[in-house]
Amino acid sequence: MRARITGIDHFVPEDKLTNYDLEQMVDTDDEWIYTRTGIRERRVLDKDKGVSYMAVKAAKKVLEQTDTHPDELDLIIMATTTFDMMFPSTATIVQNELNAKNCWGYDLVAGCSGFLFAISTASQFIETGKHKKVMVIGADKMSSIMNYKDRNTCIIFGDGAGAVLLEPSGEDGYGIEDYLNHIDGSGGQYLYMPGGGSLHPPTHETIDKGMHFVHQDGRTLFKNAVIEMTKTFRDIIEKNNLKTDDIKFFIPHQANARIITAVAEKLGLTEDQAIINIEKYGNTTAGTIPIAMSEVYQDGKLQKGDRIILSAFGTGFAWGSLLLRWSMD
Ligand code: COA
Repeated sequence: MRARITGIDHFVPEDKLTNYDLEQMVDTDDEWIYTRTGIRERRVLDKDKGVSYMAVKAAKKVLEQTDTHPDELDLIIMATTTFDMMFPSTATIVQNELNAKNCWGYDLVAGCSGFLFAISTASQFIETGKHKKVMVIGADKMSSIMNYKDRNTCIIFGDGAGAVLLEPSGEDGYGIEDYLNHIDGSGGQYLYMPGGGSLHPPTHETIDKGMHFVHQDGRTLFKNAVIEMTKTFRDIIEKNNLKTDDIKFFIPHQANARIITAVAEKLGLTEDQAIINIEKYGNTTAGTIPIAMSEVYQDGKLQKGDRIILSAFGTGFAWGSLLLRWSMD
């Protein structure tokens, strides 16, 4: 038995932060940002709302779309790096807001690979027959950990959420076929937020040093993202005896449009196969893949049986690729 996606939707806040807005905040300009990253604007959630707000909005749409009562959920996996608070888990906050009375749940932290790792994990509960309905959410409020004085980072990230419902496949066996995920902690120094955890609990000093903001070495990330996303894509199609032509869509994490085009070029994928929507949202971390997949579905481009590869690379390093056969009409 496989796990298949039976519902998918997303939520992004209305407020936009454009490249022109950023020109007023740091020494940058629209042309630099667009040509280097492919981003025109990002969405920003209200200051008084946490990531759970977006997660709940996306999950509610999925419940409605699939005509699922919240009590039917067995498990909620919440992929995020920007929890509402250190504890309780954001999954419990989402569960309470959804009023889902018969489930358990937890948060999964894998940065930009969060959704990929969460859906890989969720598929196991379905495949073993243990659970029938698992809600997987990828969401981040990156604006909450952004230094809007640092042009190296603040131009890239945005806020958003996507959610899918996973259920057992039918007779046809469509659904998640395989995944290849990896971590390599030697890459931790290239993208991290050092403050706020048990190593550097919040003090005036940690705040003064900007330790509660994202720090990144963009060039190193860029290089490794291209190498590893290309490799896991190749590995997963080879392992499953497929060719690039067999893949209808490559739906990658949206960190930089140039990363995606470089990977697509190396793999020989066409422009139509490689999905890029970063122009509108920037990098929403765990949100990018479910938001992009949701948009492709809503645009009517996906047909039952289509093969898709989801790929991500991010903090950790953590990365991987997941192969699925689309299972919705
Ligand atoms: N506006 C204008 N100039 C900027 C700038 C900005 N927003 N940000 C950096 N620059 C400058 C740099 O200071 C540097 O100037 P210098 O040559 O005088 O020192 C120059 O532009 C080139 O900087 P560099 O960092 O080499 O640019 P880049 O082409 O690598 O682009 C990123 C920077 C961050 C856009 C790019 O490296 C990237 O997207 N990396 C991947 C990030 C990522 O994937 N993060 C999340 C992982 S999940």
